[in-house]
Order: sequence, then structure tokens, then C-alpha cells
Amino acid sequence: MKDTYILGIESSCDETSVAIVKNGTEDIATVISSQIDIHKNYGGVVPEIASRQHVKNITIVLEECLTKANLSMNDITAIAVTYGPGLIGSLLIGLEAAKTLAFIYNKPLIPVHHIAGHIYANNLVKELQFPLLAVVVSGGHTELVEMSNHYKFKKIGGTLDDAIGECYDKVARIIGLEYPGGPKLDKLAESGHNTYKLPVPLKDDSYNFSFSGLKSAVINLVHNEEQRKSTIIKENLAASFQTVAVEAIITKVKRAIVQKNIKHIILAGGVAANKGLRQALQDLATTLNVDLTIPPLKYCTDNATMIAAAGYYAYKDGRIADLKLNSKSQDELK
Ligand code: KG4
Ligand code: ZN
Repeated sequence: MKDTYILGIESSCDETSVAIVKNGTEDIATVISSQIDIHKNYGGVVPEIASRQHVKNITIVLEECLTKANLSMNDITAIAVTYGPGLIGSLLIGLEAAKTLAFIYNKPLIPVHHIAGHIYANNLVKELQFPLLAVVVSGGHTELVEMSNHYKFKKIGGTLDDAIGECYDKVARIIGLEYPGGPKLDKLAESGHNTYKLPVPLKDDSYNFSFSGLKSAVINLVHNEEQRKSTIIKENLAASFQTVAVEAIITKVKRAIVQKNIKHIILAGGVAANKGLRQALQDLATTLNVDLTIPPLKYCTDNATMIAAAGYYAYKDGRIADLKLNSKSQDELK
């Protein structure tokens, strides 16, 4: 059978990335240009600046990727692009690049949901097995997605308010860590102990999550300690927060595995880099005897490799768009 080379483009937030993946599993070449150093000065991603950077970077990243792969556009089977969700101005840059390439080189255009990309990052490590449970944890999402087969997504639960990554970043900011604080908070937690009492959010029998109460509990705790003129032990607060945040996820994941007869768990999204969550999931998978895949760090944060991998299965599923395709800042995974 002829090999399928998918060229993926990702620009939904602050990473401009182009990658080429062979047959949905093999990373042929990946190029990522991160804007983190620019946005760091503002304490978060500035959408207008992000779009301008994507405009500057996209053609350079594309050329570099083709050179790295030693392929030309004629070798490419189809072009997959993140159409949403994400920052609308940022998404548009990647989408326009993809449309232009599809038009000029007469290639199929494959729209990919950003979260489908995060899920398929795991396929670059090990082929997905079904029924599968995807634990999607990022700066914008906290979702449990059940998959009965390739590209058959069913969201069984999600956050009712803040996403877990957003909560990590906000808590990190409260204790004075620089943006993006999530990874720094995770690192700090390693040297601390669970000494501060924080509430485990949403202890119910749904598959949903809630993180805004936990964030408020941390803010209140810090204010109270300040008023009492006592010093916060940051490492311990980080460890206490991490314990509760991870427990909130693990409790629901555990129930889903049992109730839905899950064979394979995968971790997706930027927070998949979290050491506490990785360890807790590993322990759970061992106890319940299910397969667990956790992508390497380079595939956890935003990249086009995952978009190209997902794009392969979307292509096989006949999900081809025309040049009227538009980007969407919000969209359900389906
Ligand atoms: O998936 P991603 O790169 O972008 C979104 O689509 O949101 O995720 C970024 C999020 C940020 O909130 C970042 O702080 C968080 O993932 N994050 C972490 C860790 N590494 C990244 N949160 C906790 N622990 C980490 N090690
Ligand atoms: Zn992401």
C-alpha cells in the first residue's frame, strides 16, 4: 500500500508548528516556533501579538519542516490543520496557510479539532486501542472522552468552570511564579509536603470537574496567612494543591474505567506533563490492569505532529473540507 504523508499545521495559541507524519504513526519532521518568551513579559498570551508572530513565522516553519523531512509538497497526500478551538486570530493564520497550500498543490484539506490532536499525540507512541478513555487536561480543557473506535469521540464529562491548566497557572501566579506557572508549580510540589487542607472539588457521581472553588480556596488561604503575618511555605502549598487537583481527576477516571470497561487510557494536553498526574495514573493503571500511554513531553504541549497524526484518521474517515472552511474559537469534539 502507498504511504500516506500528512502535513499538519497548528497555530491555535502561541506555538507556530508544521509537521509531517507518515501513516498516522511516524513523525517524519516537526518544527515548532514558540512565542513563550514574548508573552512571558505580559503574564499570559496576548492574542494580537500571537497572531502577528504566527504571520511572521508560518512560512519559515513550513519551509524548515519540508527541508528537514527532505520532501517536497508533491510528496504530501493531504494537509491537516487545526480549525479550532483556540484564539481566532491565531487559528486563522494556520488555516489560511493550509488553504493556500491545498489550493496551489491541489491537496485535500483536513480540518482537525485541537483536542483530537492532543488525543492522537498518543498514537505516535502506541496505536490506540478501544474502548479508550482520553484524559484531556490543558490550559483550556479538562475533559474525559470515551472512544469506541478511531475518530469516534464521546465526551462523558468536563469542567464546569476553570480548566485544570488555567487553575495551575492562576494558583502559580498567587504564589509568585512566572507565566506559564503550571510547570513551575509542579516542580515546586516535588520538594513539598501535603500540609495545607484544601477541599477536593465536586465529589459527586458525574464525570465532571470543577476547579474554580479550589483556586478560591488557595487565594483565601494565602490572604488569611498574610493577615496573620505568617509565611506561606510555598513548596507545601504547591504539594497540597497538586494532591487535591490530581485526586479530583483520578477519582473520576477510576470510575469511568470500571463503568465503561476501558482497555486503554491515554493522557492528552499540556497538563499531561504534570509529574503528579502521571504518577497517579500509572499507579491506577497498574491497579486496574489497563494499558496506559503518556506522550513524551514534546508531544504534550502544542505541536503540529499530533495534528498530522489525527489528520490521517480524519482523512481515512472522509473528513475533507472545502476552501470555505472557517476557524472556530469554540467547538465540541465530534
Ligand atoms: O495544551 P497546552 O499546551 O495549551 C492549551 O491548549 O491549553 O497546555 C498548556 C497548559 C498551561 O496551562 C500550562 O501551565 C499547563 O498546560 N502545564 C502544566 C504543566 N506543564 C504545562 N500544568 C501543570 N503541570 C505541568 N507540569
Ligand atoms: Zn493544546
